[in-house]
Amino acid sequence: MAASFGVCRLHFRALGGLDKFCLGLEPQTQVRFTSTTSALKAQTEKKTAKAAKESRTFQAIQEERKEEAERSVLISCPPKINEKKFLDYLSKHGTINKHFFYNSYGANAVVEFSSRESIASLKESINIPAVEHEAAVPFKSRLLSLKWPGSQSSNHPMPKFKEQSPPSINEITQLLSERDSMDEQLQCLTETLQLTEENISLRFLVCSLLRDIAGAYFPECIIRPFGSSVNSFGKLGCDVDMILDLDGIYATSQKKGSGLSLEYQVKRGASERAVTQSILSVIGKCVDQFGPGCVGVQSILQARCPLVRFAHQPSGFQCDLTANNRVAMKSSELLFLYGKLDPRVRHLVFSVRCWARAHSITSSIPGAWITNFSLTVMVVFFLQQRNPPILPTLDRLKELAGPSDKCVIEGNDCTIVSDLSKITLQQNTDTLEKLLQEFFEFYGNFPFNKASINIRKGKEQTKPETTALYIQNPFETTLNISKNVNATQLERFVALCRESAWLLQQKEILKQSSDSPWGFAALLLPSVTSGAGVKSRRKRKLEPASSRIKNLLDSLKIKGGETVAKKGSANARR
Ligand code: GTP
Ligand code: MG
Repeated sequence: MAASFGVCRLHFRALGGLDKFCLGLEPQTQVRFTSTTSALKAQTEKKTAKAAKESRTFQAIQEERKEEAERSVLISCPPKINEKKFLDYLSKHGTINKHFFYNSYGANAVVEFSSRESIASLKESINIPAVEHEAAVPFKSRLLSLKWPGSQSSNHPMPKFKEQSPPSINEITQLLSERDSMDEQLQCLTETLQLTEENISLRFLVCSLLRDIAGAYFPECIIRPFGSSVNSFGKLGCDVDMILDLDGIYATSQKKGSGLSLEYQVKRGASERAVTQSILSVIGKCVDQFGPGCVGVQSILQARCPLVRFAHQPSGFQCDLTANNRVAMKSSELLFLYGKLDPRVRHLVFSVRCWARAHSITSSIPGAWITNFSLTVMVVFFLQQRNPPILPTLDRLKELAGPSDKCVIEGNDCTIVSDLSKITLQQNTDTLEKLLQEFFEFYGNFPFNKASINIRKGKEQTKPETTALYIQNPFETTLNISKNVNATQLERFVALCRESAWLLQQKEILKQSSDSPWGFAALLLPSVTSGAGVKSRRKRKLEPASSRIKNLLDSLKIKGGETVAKKGSANARR
């Protein structure tokens, strides 16, 4: 980041010199130089704009996307439409900034206007449909249906539909096997799985549509996405975690000192949790009964963090709405910041998450599994352990924070620096291949039985309790984010780490081959440790290697609940 600013400053200096130099030249030469100058200027402006965009804080990005979503509508369309005619029709209400088409239970379009007035004008012109044999809930949302009279335009090209789902494991394996190196494979994996711009816009739009429902009760509320939708580690198809943010309601505008003051009369609940449960319960009912496209609504109010879960059909997203969950938003900002500091962070997180999913280490169903959030924190911790470290500790991010970064949530100090240019990174040139290999070695030999993972200190700490896996919650430091993980799941993780580390040490796995998966793609094949997969792993070439792995793993067999071979831990780390 700092480097790109440096480059921009250099460009400006060079341009200044060029302008002065041009003044003393012949007119013809000047024209040539002027056009070169303007081309250079345009190039510099583009780079400056890109650098400015890149250096925006997490909050600034969220704010911008939220605002774009408020100027957008989601329209279900017939599959074959004349795109130009469609846009001309909508443009009567104002300038269209962006639009895209995608498929989810039929064709849909997201249209972003340049001003909110266009939405008001559009809504004025739309009717509530007359439905036969049923009755319609007269709720005017920004989820619309396009009626296209007569035959649909068959001689016009169909609009391009943007993909919103991830490729299958087989497709990924195929794609990766075509790359030239493992580093290229890991970069390609991130590019293939990461959320697209359009998918992120759609996530913000769904939050904004939901806000329109909650806004009927709490006009100042905001519904914000958090978790992998915004922390830069989201994979196409991941859920949308949402927070109902009521902070704007609590903000007071009354000036003190006039003597008199008024207060709202309010209903009181037994605790903050009880109030959150009651608000979510009502909003859950509204989403269920009035929210177009929202199906399968479940209110899970007794959970540690009460939530309303539902599927939003027009976007195809599974949504979890929570309230009063500001720490989780701060965790998303922290992960976003770590992801921005070095491109290897995201590549490693995407690879580890994909590897874990392929081997059912993680699951979409809640249970005793390791979660994606825990895995990401484990990658961050590993990168803090490198020599020199690739990532700074959370304490260091707190030290670098300015006065405006100060943030205390429910007594927890959640302060972190927001200006990335204040962070100086050390020079570390490890390749992705090396990092992935050593990630597996590191956790294949980590003393989980006695140590906890602590990204605040960037050091292992003595485990304060006897749970199988202890990963300190970055902000609520007395909590363990992996309390749910049982010994069996941890043992599976450790065994798979060892197997993958071992596989990556075998030269044959790194040999490029067009007819069988190699490198990272080979790590996604069924594992020998899962039993069922022994026969299916690279049938011809790796069958002997599979038996060796099995023997090796048998010799390392975990005994008496001790998940780690302690002897190896010192050697294997770094
Ligand atoms: P996906 O699996 O892609 O959805 O990843 P995710 O990061 O969105 O995880 P998930 O949907 O499970 O949780 C959403 C967010 O809630 C995470 O990113 C964290 O910020 C937060 N979170 C999840 N689990 C915990 C936990 O155990 N403790 C705390 N404090 N926060 C959690
Ligand atoms: Mg999530």
